Amino acid sequence: MNLNGKTALVTGGSKGIGYGVAAALVREGMNVVLTARNGGEVEAAAQRLTEQGPGRALGLRCNVREYSEQETVVEKTVAEFGGLDVLVANAGVGTFAPIQEMSQDDWHDVIDTNLTGVFYSVKASLAALKQGGGYIFTISSLAGRNPMAGGSAYNASKFGLNGFSEAIMLDLRQDDVKVSTIMPGSVATHFGGHTPSDEDAWKIQPEDIAELVVTLLKMPARTLPSRVEVRPSKPPTK
Ligand SMILES: NC(=O)c1ccc[n+]([C@@H]2O[C@H](COP(=O)([O-])OP(=O)(O)OC[C@H]3O[C@@H](n4cnc5c(N)ncnc54)[C@H](OP(=O)(O)O)[C@@H]3O)[C@@H](O)[C@H]2O)c1
Repeated sequence: MNLNGKTALVTGGSKGIGYGVAAALVREGMNVVLTARNGGEVEAAAQRLTEQGPGRALGLRCNVREYSEQETVVEKTVAEFGGLDVLVANAGVGTFAPIQEMSQDDWHDVIDTNLTGVFYSVKASLAALKQGGGYIFTISSLAGRNPMAGGSAYNASKFGLNGFSEAIMLDLRQDDVKVSTIMPGSVATHFGGHTPSDEDAWKIQPEDIAELVVTLLKMPARTLPSRVEVRPSKPPTK
């Protein structure tokens, strides 16, 4: 795909992986709409990216758990930039606790954001994406195939997301819409309340995932890497 002048929507774009991907797409000359629940943060992030250019960014407050809010974002994207070519369904949360302590609220927070939220993002974007051919990225996790103690909700959300992503890849490829599932290991972000620091140097960095997204977008139209696992090459030994 020739990226210059194309339009992307990145959910959860105010920080972490979403921000890194948005920054790389703006550097490629794309117009990028970023969303997050904190409106002030996402607007500030978009302003920073527009200043860097050459593409333009627009920050919109949106909770991926609310379908009507995602519809409004897609309407505004098309009105502002004339279409939608790439969706990066990235917004996600992690709450980890043994099942004995996992509350119903925490379960719904994780499943409704990481799984239903991605379904809503895709559903709301699909008509616009199909106009001229498009690309959907879902940001899953290595936790989508490796269960961990305390991960009942998060593992369930990402195992489910892998199944969802690969099913829609099969639904959409004849319509010229590609779907790739990216499954990172540890990335240095604010995920789960973490504060990135120098001690995270061994982890994958958001810009590494961004580079992968750009590479996949530039693959020949005939080829579709549908699932990509990404891990730190040299994690600390225990
Ligand atoms: N970091 C890792 O080690 C790692 C590894 C594998 C996969 N992942 C996945 O990568 C994705 C991004 O996570 P990250 O590591 O970049 O975390 P992060 O630094 O905490 O960023 C998460 C982003 O998602 C937004 N967000 C959260 N809930 C949302 C909602 N309901 N609606 C809209 N936006 C929402 C946040 O903004 P607001 O809070 O303002 O909404 C923020 O912009 C997630 O799907 C996560 O599961 C992360």
